Amino acid sequence: MKSAKLPQHIAIVMDGNGRWAQKRHMPRLAGHKRGVDALKVVIQACLGHGIPVLTVFAFSSENWSRPTGEVSGLLELLNVALRRELAALHDRGIRLRFLGSQHGLAPELCAVLRDAEQLTHANQAMVLNICFNYGGRWDIVDAAARLAAAGTPITEMSMNAALSLAPCPDPDLLIRTGDEYRLSNFLLWQCAYSELYFSSVLWPDFDAAALDLALEAYASRERRFGRTTQSSASSAVPA
Ligand code: FPP
Repeated sequence: MKSAKLPQHIAIVMDGNGRWAQKRHMPRLAGHKRGVDALKVVIQACLGHGIPVLTVFAFSSENWSRPTGEVSGLLELLNVALRRELAALHDRGIRLRFLGSQHGLAPELCAVLRDAEQLTHANQAMVLNICFNYGGRWDIVDAAARLAAAGTPITEMSMNAALSLAPCPDPDLLIRTGDEYRLSNFLLWQCAYSELYFSSVLWPDFDAAALDLALEAYASRERRFGRTTQSSASSAVPA
C-alpha cells in the first residue's frame, strides 16, 4: 500500500470484549484481558506500517456505571498490563500518553501512568495515546474551562491546542470494532473529519489482517474536508 494513502493517525474504539467472552461462557474480564493481547498485535502492526500515532479508547467516563467488579478489573488490568508491557513498549520506541480525567483514579495508578509517560517521553517510533477515564464532552468542557480561566479567547485554534490530544494531529481514520455504529463520546471534536470504519470483528479477534482491511478501505476513500475535490481539501485543514 502506498504510504501516501496510509493514515498518519488511527483512533480505535475497541468494542466487543464482553460479547467475545460471553460467547465462550467466560467472565467479561477474560474478554478485556484478550483485548490487551489484541492491542499488542495492533500496536505491532501499526509500527510495521510506520503509522506515527495510535489512539485507543480503553475506559470511558461512562464505564464507571458498569458492575463494580468489571470496573475494578479494568482499572487493575491497566495497572498490570502497563507494568508487564512497559519495557517492551519503551524498547520499541513507543511514546505513551494517557488522556482522560484523573478524577476517580487512585493516586498510585495516576503515578504509574505519569511515570510511564515520563520514561517514554523522548521516544520517536510511534505515539500511543491511551484514553482512560476519557470522554469527548469532558475533553471539550475541560479545555474550554481552562482557556476561560486563563482569559484566552476560545477559538478553533486555541481549543485544538488545549484539548488532551494536542499536539497530535486529528485522527485520519477512526475504527470501531464489535459491529456497533456509534462514536460513544470518543474524540468528538477531533474526529470532525476522520474517516469512519466499522468492523464486525469483536476486538479480541481483531488482528493485523483486520487492520489491513481497514487500511484498504481508508486508501479507497476520497477525503474532501467539506470541499468539492480532494486537491482543494489539502489546503483546507491546517497541518
Ligand atoms: C468495550 O468492550 C471495551 C472496553 C470498555 C474496554 C477496552 C479495554 C481493552 C481492550 C483492554 C485494553 C486496555 C488497556 C488496559 C490498555 P465491551 O466490554 O463494551 O464489549 P461488549 O460490547 O461486547 O459488551
